[in-house]
Amino acid sequence: MVCPVINCCTARQEQTRARIVNVTIVHYLDREGSLMTVTNRESGTNVHEVSDGIYRINTPVMFENGNSFSFNQYLIADDEALLFHTGPRKMFPLVREAVASVLPAKQLRYIAFSHVEADECGSLNEWLAVAPQAVPLCGTVAAMVSIEDLADRSPRALADGEMLALGKHAVHWFDTPHLPHAWECGFLMEEQSSTLLCGDLFTQGGADLPPVTESDILGPSEAFRKKMDYFSHTKNARAMLEKLASTNPETLACMHGSAWRGDGAKLLRALADELSA
Ligand SMILES: [Fe+2]
Ligand SMILES: [Fe+2]
Repeated sequence: MVCPVINCCTARQEQTRARIVNVTIVHYLDREGSLMTVTNRESGTNVHEVSDGIYRINTPVMFENGNSFSFNQYLIADDEALLFHTGPRKMFPLVREAVASVLPAKQLRYIAFSHVEADECGSLNEWLAVAPQAVPLCGTVAAMVSIEDLADRSPRALADGEMLALGKHAVHWFDTPHLPHAWECGFLMEEQSSTLLCGDLFTQGGADLPPVTESDILGPSEAFRKKMDYFSHTKNARAMLEKLASTNPETLACMHGSAWRGDGAKLLRALADELSA
């Protein structure tokens, strides 16, 4: 989901971009005692391994009105490394720096995304430029409607349910048209770690959230949905959420807010109930 007030923080991010020369990477323990790497002290961009070999890259954003938000990308480090979501184009230097703390950007093979919006794929071409072996990875609708034209290289388009091996990890693509929004929307399920890269589902506002939580995220994300109305009003949400639930994810890798660990099928079905209430 594109931050509705991203322009409010543009000046701040321009400042950040200007200052990211001579970056010092800082490692510290988060409040749950696990290792976190801050790759940019000005922006607070940080990296945390949420599942085996899957890294959450998080950038908090503060707004002048006191609201806050966060943007996450997920990096699967493997023989064929995959980045799920690029972050907004103006954050490219920050995300690139964070990726480089895990592996050289040129090793990336897939720049994947759920749907076509700035925070999902705004810096797609910048990534293709720094990762010459990489191609966009998306669903067939995104490839046909947008990416064959927008991207500097042709995409690898995945059909609903199609699997892609990355080495130790493997991802399945699931089409979820209009859930939560965009015709071309879909998600990736990583099999080895049972991690669902669930994009804008369970979006939580705020910026000071733990990298991973086992606490309730449905309540906060429902409060955010009701305020922002960012879901489409598709009648097919329950069937698509059931398709995702049938993969039995143990980690939900949310794009905005904390990743979540627990019974993912149960939480996805609870979301279906909320959407139909
Ligand atoms: Fe998003
Ligand atoms: Fe979105």
